[in-house]
Order: sequence, then structure tokens, then C-alpha cells
Amino acid sequence: MRTTGTLFGRAEELSTLHGLVADARAGRGNALVLKGEAGIGKTTLLDDAATTATATGLTVLRGTGLEPESELPFAGLHLLLRSVLDAVGDLDPDDARVLRRALGTDSGRTPRTDGDVPVGQALLTLFDTLALRAPVLVVVDDAHWLDTPSAEALLFAARRADAHPVAVLLAARDTHAPAFPTPGVPDLPLARLDDTAVAALLDAHTPDLDRHLRDETVGEAAGNPLAALTLAADRRAG
Ligand SMILES: Nc1ncnc2c1ncn2[C@@H]1O[C@H](COP(=O)(O)OP(=O)(O)OP(=O)(O)O)[C@@H](O)[C@H]1O
Ligand SMILES: [Mg+2]
Repeated sequence: MRTTGTLFGRAEELSTLHGLVADARAGRGNALVLKGEAGIGKTTLLDDAATTATATGLTVLRGTGLEPESELPFAGLHLLLRSVLDAVGDLDPDDARVLRRALGTDSGRTPRTDGDVPVGQALLTLFDTLALRAPVLVVVDDAHWLDTPSAEALLFAARRADAHPVAVLLAARDTHAPAFPTPGVPDLPLARLDDTAVAALLDAHTPDLDRHLRDETVGEAAGNPLAALTLAADRRAG
């Protein structure tokens, strides 16, 4: 269930994300992983950050982990970079070769082999090159479904983003999903919304819901916005 409009109860998180985007715009890179349960609002916050970044002139690269591609080496990186593959040609030959081999756009050995730079390093160089035009925001949703080589390369870049004009924003479920450890990259854990925020969310999306039913729904949803919207829709239908 996708909704648009006001976000309730996420002032602090939005301020953190807008700060990350503003820093990237000023040339100060950073990285953050949003973590939380299903339906808690990870994608919604990523969308907000991406919209803010696009509106303020950043280049936004968006990708996502996908369960069916989670065993395909570098599938996630390919999805993320598909709109900027031309820029790989602007890299120095070593970085370009490593990235092309990873992305399957060049024949040859599979990275990483001795003497090659790590794919994550080549990725940072690509972000630097893109940032000559505009600072870069990298947004990857459902990162727990990334194939391992893509996750490793992205986390390598994320850990070093502070020395580059790139912000790396990832989101991952932290329950009922494959583990996605992110050592060296700061987390933003998404707590459940408080009841006031859930009530406001329901008032905005299901204003015709009887007040008693609304309060019951707030209790049952226990701070999960997707649960609140789904329960309210069921109640309205029933
Ligand atoms: N703070 C909020 N205010 C209003 N609506 C919200 C808020 N957070 C989430 N929502 C709504 O709740 C639903 C679930 O949010 P979202 O898809 O972002 O969750 P998610 O954490 O990405 O879940 P998943 O792990 O399943 O991908 C969406 O309809 C979204 O618009
Ligand atoms: Mg999501």
C-alpha cells in the first residue's frame, strides 16, 4: 500500500535525512542505513530524501535489492548504475575495467583478482566523476536482498563516503529478512510511531472512519503505519 503526502511522527528522521542531503550538496559525503521492520516507513523516507535531493540539484542514483537477483553477483550494482554506465568510460582504465567486469559489460576475469582495485574503490571513483557535474545521492532500498558482491562494494563505498561528494543511503529490514550487517556505517533505526502520529495518519487517510474504530485501530497497529492503514481499510470495507 503506497500513499503520498504528509509523513507523521518522523520529524527527527526527516531532519537527519535532509541534513545528509544538504551536506552532500555542500560536498560533504556521508552514509546512513535505515533499519526497521516491514511497513515501518523505510521506503517512504528514502522517497522523501530522493525527492529533496532531486529538487535541490543532486544526481540521484536509485537501486534496490531484489530477492530473485540476490544470488546473481553484482546484479544490484548493475541495477543501481544502469543510467550512468556511459560515465564508466570517463574513468581511468583500471577503474573502468574493474567496474565493467563486475557489471558484465566487459569480458575477462571476474573481480576481484590480484592487482585490481576493489570494486568499491572503482565505485567511489565513478561517484567522484559523476559529482563533477552535481553531487550524488545513492539510494538503495531493500538492501537485505542485495547480492553479496554488490552489498560489499556499496558498503566499502559507504564507509569512505565522508571523503567524497556522495551520500549513500541504504534501507534494510531488520526482522524477517536475511541479515544485513553494516559494520562501519551508521544506522538510523526506525522506531514505531507513537499513537498520536498513527491517529493523525488515520485521520488523513481514512477521515470517515468512526472515532471509536480509529482508536481501536491505533491500538492494534502498535505504531506500524502499514498495519494502521491496512487495518483501517479492512474496517472501512467491513
Ligand atoms: N511516517 C509516516 N506517515 C505517514 N504514512 C507513512 C509513514 N511511514 C510509512 N507510511 C506509509 O506506510 C506504508 C508503509 O511504508 P513503507 O512502504 O515506507 O514501509 P517499509 O518500511 O519500506 O516496508 P517494507 O520493509 O515492507 O518495504 C506506506 O503506505 C507509507 O506511505
Ligand atoms: Mg520498503
